[in-house]
Amino acid sequence: MGFYSKVIIPYFYDFSMDSEQINKGRQNLLSKVTEENVVEIGFGTGINLKFYPENVKHIIGIDANEGMLKQAEKKISNSKIRVQIIHQSSEKLPFEENSIDAVVSTYTLCSIKHVESALREIFRVLKPEGRYYFLEHGLADKPFTQQLQHILNPIQNIWADGCNLNRNISSIIAESGLRIIEMKNYYMKRDPKIVGYMYEGIAKKGIAKND
Ligand SMILES: C[S@@+](CC[C@H](N)C(=O)[O-])C[C@H]1O[C@@H](n2cnc3c(N)ncnc32)[C@H](O)[C@@H]1O
Repeated sequence: MGFYSKVIIPYFYDFSMDSEQINKGRQNLLSKVTEENVVEIGFGTGINLKFYPENVKHIIGIDANEGMLKQAEKKISNSKIRVQIIHQSSEKLPFEENSIDAVVSTYTLCSIKHVESALREIFRVLKPEGRYYFLEHGLADKPFTQQLQHILNPIQNIWADGCNLNRNISSIIAESGLRIIEMKNYYMKRDPKIVGYMYEGIAKKGIAKND
């Protein structure tokens, strides 16, 4: 991993992704987390920490970029939540099957190279009643914007360190076997449409019973 990915990108993301607009979505999603123990994939620089409700006591944060985790250190030490960091790809999760209460990802499915593997892993490790909370940008709902997303994707991939503009997040989640129990799609107000189409929701592993 080069200097750009390890130093510049963490600094840039920490600054640009802690904005009022983005944090509205974080706040909205994370306020719904009812579990005590959470695994957050693509933990990044720890921006989500300040938005978890009080019932969340322990987070295992997983990220493939050690520069991101370094940038997260101060937020972790200032947080009331006990945070354990694992530096590795979430394409393979270091947990037993059916062992995890809740998984969270925000702005991460766009960047995971083998995103289908990561989703299959989330499905595998979640307990039958476990929940997956997601806030992700992806393929827009308008054909013209979609076309632009496909055209500009290679450029985005380079400058934004592997981020993809054109992933259909709800389809990828559904293909893993997870069942989306609530979701809203919307455009972020001030962002260009190609990066601002959001998928915010909750998916479950188990069959419909206590949704
Ligand atoms: C755009 S950042 C978002 C960070 C954080 N989730 C947030 O909302 O601020 C994407 C994150 O996904 C991480 N990432 C990319 N591929 C990954 C993988 N295979 N496994 C785990 N983390 C990954 C990156 O290192 C980065 O921290």
